[in-house]
Amino acid sequence: MIRTKVLGLGSYVPDRVVTNEEIPFLDGRHVRQQTQQTETNDQWIQQRTGIKERRYAPNDGSVATSDLALEAAKRALADAHLQAGDLDCIILGTLSPDIHFPGTAVFLQKKLGIAQSTNCACFDIRQQCSAFVYGLQMADAFIRTGMYKRILLVGAELHSHALEYNNRGRDVMVLFGDGAGAMVLGPMETDDPRAGVMYTSAHADGSGALDLYLKIFEIAKLPYLDYDATDRERNEFMYPKMDGKRVFLNAVRGMVMSTQAALAKTGLGWDDVQWFVPHQANLRINEKVVEVAKIPHDKVLNTIQFYGNTTAATVPLTIDYWRQQGKVKRGDRILSSVFGSGFTWGAAIFTL
Ligand code: COA
Repeated sequence: MIRTKVLGLGSYVPDRVVTNEEIPFLDGRHVRQQTQQTETNDQWIQQRTGIKERRYAPNDGSVATSDLALEAAKRALADAHLQAGDLDCIILGTLSPDIHFPGTAVFLQKKLGIAQSTNCACFDIRQQCSAFVYGLQMADAFIRTGMYKRILLVGAELHSHALEYNNRGRDVMVLFGDGAGAMVLGPMETDDPRAGVMYTSAHADGSGALDLYLKIFEIAKLPYLDYDATDRERNEFMYPKMDGKRVFLNAVRGMVMSTQAALAKTGLGWDDVQWFVPHQANLRINEKVVEVAKIPHDKVLNTIQFYGNTTAATVPLTIDYWRQQGKVKRGDRILSSVFGSGFTWGAAIFTL
């Protein structure tokens, strides 16, 4: 039987650390001002979200989302002892694409130096914070059917360029950070039904689509892009909007349900799973999920405290971070559950 194996893992975050203390003084260019630009503070942010700091990419025009993806991809390929030329498929999840179209996966393919190979299919997926589990489900199906043999699955986000650094945007702005995580996946021949990627589930409820969104434009209208930087109502389109309470409640419900279903459908218990890696949206969400789903506390891995929410990147980034700290090891079984804009959610069980 062909099953999907994790061949390599890698992650990348920019060097610049932005603390909660610095956030109120940053302007839209991330420049530190003498006077407060946003009324927020470390205590509010930590109490509601658990976040202490996050990373920001330079905003001098030199870095795009595909550059963050590239660094994580190079590390995952090195970990897999493979070259970029070995890849026959890239699946890239982001809500901060380099440009509107084409998708960001083709920019990454070019930066990997394999644009001329023509043997590497490129997919962009748009499942926001659920992209890792959705992408893993796609990759697993491709590999088990023999469609592709070396898949690079990447989640990358450059949030800091598209947040609103003032009171109107503060509920969203404090949550997000920049970063990327990547996995290389391939086939293995095994009779063990628990080996490799054991389980994936993906769900959606489009009635929550406008509870967390970023418009930028509306294709139904003409002009479809109606933006004026000086007009507060019109420039609102340029920034993400969120009903934080509805997102919070639905996230807890979606992650608890998908975690419990993953265990029930595979017949595994927490003794069979080494680590629970939830999407890193908010530490309070994860604490609630752990409490309601009765997940052993010593199996939970978080990075939100120092990376914030890096959306499509959080799961591989968190696993890689804790592997570098010596906690996560090759051969460990991981249960991951995610929730994101859409609403979308899901879970996966796989062996690293
Ligand atoms: N700093 C200080 N005050 C802030 C603030 C900030 N960054 N953001 C909002 N506030 C204010 C609000 O304006 C409001 O003020 P008011 O009472 O004078 O109107 C007050 O804090 C409470 O706002 P509220 O929205 O009720 O707070 P909350 O307890 O719901 O917490 C979130 C807000 C965003 C932290 C919380 O809803 C949340 O975490 N939601 C999930 C978000 C998420 O995870 N998104 C990504 C999903 S993938």
